[in-house]
Amino acid sequence: MKIIARALSAAGLALLSLSLGAANELPCRLEVDVHRPIARVSPVMWGIFFEDINFGADGGLYAELVKNRSFEFNQPLMGWQTVRPPGSTAMIGVSSRDPLHPNNPQYLDVTVGPADHGVALLNEGFRGMGLRQGESYVFSVFARQVSGGPTALKVELLDEQGQVIGQTRLKGFQPAWLRHTAALTARTTAARGKLRLLFEGQGRVHLDMVSLFPRQTWKNRPGGLRADLVQMLAELKPGFIRFPGGCIVEGFNLENRYQWKNTIGRPEERKLIINRWNMEFKHRPTPDYYQSFGLGFYEYFLLCEDLGAEPLPILNCGMACQFNTGELVPLEQLDPFIQDALDLIEFANGPTNTVWGARRAAMGHPRPFHLKFLGIGNEQWGPQYLERYERFARVLQQRHPEIRLISSAGPDPDGPKFDLLWPRLRQLRADIVDEHYYRPPQWFLDNTHRYDRYDRNGPRVFAGEYAAQSVRTVSPDNRNNWECALAEAAFMTGLERNGQVVRMSSYAPLFAHEDAWQWRPNLIWFDNLRVYGTPNYYVQQAFARHRGDLILPARLQGEVGQPERVYASATFDEAALEVIIKLVNATATPRMITLQLNGATPAGRAGRALILTGALTEENSLTHPTRIAPLTQPLPPTGPAVAHVAPAYSLSVLRVPVKTGGK
Ligand code: AHR
Repeated sequence: MKIIARALSAAGLALLSLSLGAANELPCRLEVDVHRPIARVSPVMWGIFFEDINFGADGGLYAELVKNRSFEFNQPLMGWQTVRPPGSTAMIGVSSRDPLHPNNPQYLDVTVGPADHGVALLNEGFRGMGLRQGESYVFSVFARQVSGGPTALKVELLDEQGQVIGQTRLKGFQPAWLRHTAALTARTTAARGKLRLLFEGQGRVHLDMVSLFPRQTWKNRPGGLRADLVQMLAELKPGFIRFPGGCIVEGFNLENRYQWKNTIGRPEERKLIINRWNMEFKHRPTPDYYQSFGLGFYEYFLLCEDLGAEPLPILNCGMACQFNTGELVPLEQLDPFIQDALDLIEFANGPTNTVWGARRAAMGHPRPFHLKFLGIGNEQWGPQYLERYERFARVLQQRHPEIRLISSAGPDPDGPKFDLLWPRLRQLRADIVDEHYYRPPQWFLDNTHRYDRYDRNGPRVFAGEYAAQSVRTVSPDNRNNWECALAEAAFMTGLERNGQVVRMSSYAPLFAHEDAWQWRPNLIWFDNLRVYGTPNYYVQQAFARHRGDLILPARLQGEVGQPERVYASATFDEAALEVIIKLVNATATPRMITLQLNGATPAGRAGRALILTGALTEENSLTHPTRIAPLTQPLPPTGPAVAHVAPAYSLSVLRVPVKTGGK
């Protein structure tokens, strides 16, 4: 779409006009009081929510290519295929005597006989392995020679046709567990490649933690994260990262809950568990979904540090998911859960001479991670939640008044669960209350004024999980279309205008693998080689990258009263000396918006306009990743007023330079 800018000199207006249906523009006015800021914009206003759902961690952000590398799945050889030549007497099984680590009890036990030439093992990866031409991969394995050979292990990368596209050889296994590594390069690209291990020679060997990583990971950390996926997060400029969820915090029962202490230390020490999304939805069964915790709490903290985002861990509060078993820890047995929270604060912030501070230092990070926020429970409700939250809060507020606690408002933005929790949390002087909304697009449009009514002196709000649902919540037919993204943008103007109350927000869920998802919609989609941002992603990005420092009063006026389905908010960027306007036109007609900036002197230099627009049904995809993506255009120098044509179904972000303003 072509953007034409022209100056209206006589009126002192600058008009940014889009070459579509300008004849039908319906005028309205946006008045912004630049001289009367309401409050500072929360630096953590726009963040991200990460949960290991849709293969977001294993098979996604965590760059490990081998599935079930530690043979700990319920079916220990799931993901592996054994190849025995005819007449072979080779034995390939799983044993657990004298393991590599007690948390990782099973390993592969292979005995190769004299007539066993060609015995092999294949790993299918996470819906295949993404292998790139010319890229170097690091294979590693813990091995223990029990008797005889095998003298060597031939390691091969295969393409979809089973052709070898890279190989290396490992040998020199010892009677003790030792980690062996070798590098190999892919000669061609394969989106659904495999790994093959061929046993050479004769004898018995034990193998564990069979691993293959691209050498190029985020910041090239060995065993690290997929660089392209982290780059997408970096480009969001998130104020915080909420991790590790989501319902995954809760587990379908308490045994299956997320326990951060099992996710730190050396990868082989981390205790794998089944992923709660493994069997949640009959429409998307994923029996091979587990949590290796290769991406664990240490890595989450590191990621936050890398992206300049505040860490926001959410801990289990002694309750399993209330959509599943709702299993409860008796109140008199809650102390270990509270201790986990205290220990986590020490792990993140404690000096290196403390137990958990020393664990952090031993992992390579003596400096603290500066944890400031902590979530008590995920999406819990009922009196059972309140009594558990109270116990956590009492201890944590006394021992760590510097940490701001996040409490739950349940799974709905209204209704009996919500109505029970809020008044009590207010009485308890909760710091920040986490509200979730998975609702139709119309709900988002109807709720742009939701927070206008919230008490300015009560707890702050964390819009901790939200996404417009085009069909209905948890329907696999939901789409990441422009209609949903635009409705979220309208709603976000309401969050921004009410920044004294709403201090943080995050879209959910974050990631989804095209071939392995359970939940839709999601912010970012990927396959083994590619990634794209949805329209919703670009909306989040537009708000986060143009956050500003001060919230300014902004009033829309149509020909008669407030214009329908047009929404706006305004902030001030102190460093750039720019007024930032977010403007959503959710109508089918272009709207001429005249901007009146009160108390500001125009700087006489050009600003910028960023526009997102499209048809309501439009989506991005792996093959069309930027069908809906921002277009930016200079905004010519202005007089005291600016006119802007907001295209039909659009989000505009206008940056208007001024000489003064904000204070
Ligand atoms: O975002 C997906 C799920 O929705 C989260 O795990 C849960 O908190 C919510 O119900």
